Amino acid sequence: MPKGFTLWFTGLSGSGKSTLANEVADRLRSAGRLVDLLDGDVVRQHLSKGLSFSKEDRDTNIRRIGFVAHLVTRHGGIAITAAISPYRAIRDENRRLIGNFVEVYAKCPLDVCEQRDIKGLYKKAREAVAAGKGMSFTGVDDPYEEPLKPEIVVDTSAVSVQEGARQIIDELKKLGYLEAAGAAPEADARAHHEFIPNELLAKAEAAFKKAGRVHTDVLLKELHVGFTTAAHCIDRLAEQGKIKLT
Ligand code: ADX
Repeated sequence: MPKGFTLWFTGLSGSGKSTLANEVADRLRSAGRLVDLLDGDVVRQHLSKGLSFSKEDRDTNIRRIGFVAHLVTRHGGIAITAAISPYRAIRDENRRLIGNFVEVYAKCPLDVCEQRDIKGLYKKAREAVAAGKGMSFTGVDDPYEEPLKPEIVVDTSAVSVQEGARQIIDELKKLGYLEAAGAAPEADARAHHEFIPNELLAKAEAAFKKAGRVHTDVLLKELHVGFTTAAHCIDRLAEQGKIKLT
């Protein structure tokens, strides 16, 4: 049985946890590993439906995610979690429960997250604070406790998703979590220049434009190509300056 582990992302809303988590999940799956992704927003629609953002409810949410991650991990799978998980004590509690626990801090300055404001919630939170009501929004009027000794820090304001994912996979190899399954063979495959027909590249470019983002899963879904081919398309389009890796 391969060695199970939990890759625990933590970071502010909009710091890029989910994007990075998805990219790493893609890469690990293509290396033949079983991966369960427990994304904060998704978990709150199912496992934690109805929970608020009070400290108590956030702790309950994070403990539930930790419990599921623990089950996946002990059966040799990879659990990837991507919730803000703002409180150090509960993250550490999960670390003790799970054992094979790799904490990834998606580090991004608050003002950068706020500028991105993908969901418009920072604006809402600032307005709520200005109106004297508040919204208990992490980083605005609710705490975020940075990890003290995370295994991995990805500076998401400075590196691309591809680069961040590469850093994580490299670190997992160093930590010895990816030995058994032959870690991410696509990394080697990508080093070789595979021939990609121009027609496929044009389709890939169009798929990204349509989706509004550069991500392997866009190509997997839209073009029905394999992961390695998708990765090559991304590299080639980036080299040609046709897409920008963010
Ligand atoms: S956690 O604190 O319990 O770990 P979780 O990751 O599940 O948070 O949910 C965070 C997401 O919920 C944010 O990305 C944001 O979209 C949304 N959200 C809504 N209200 C809040 C709030 N008050 N604080 C933080 N996130 C909020």
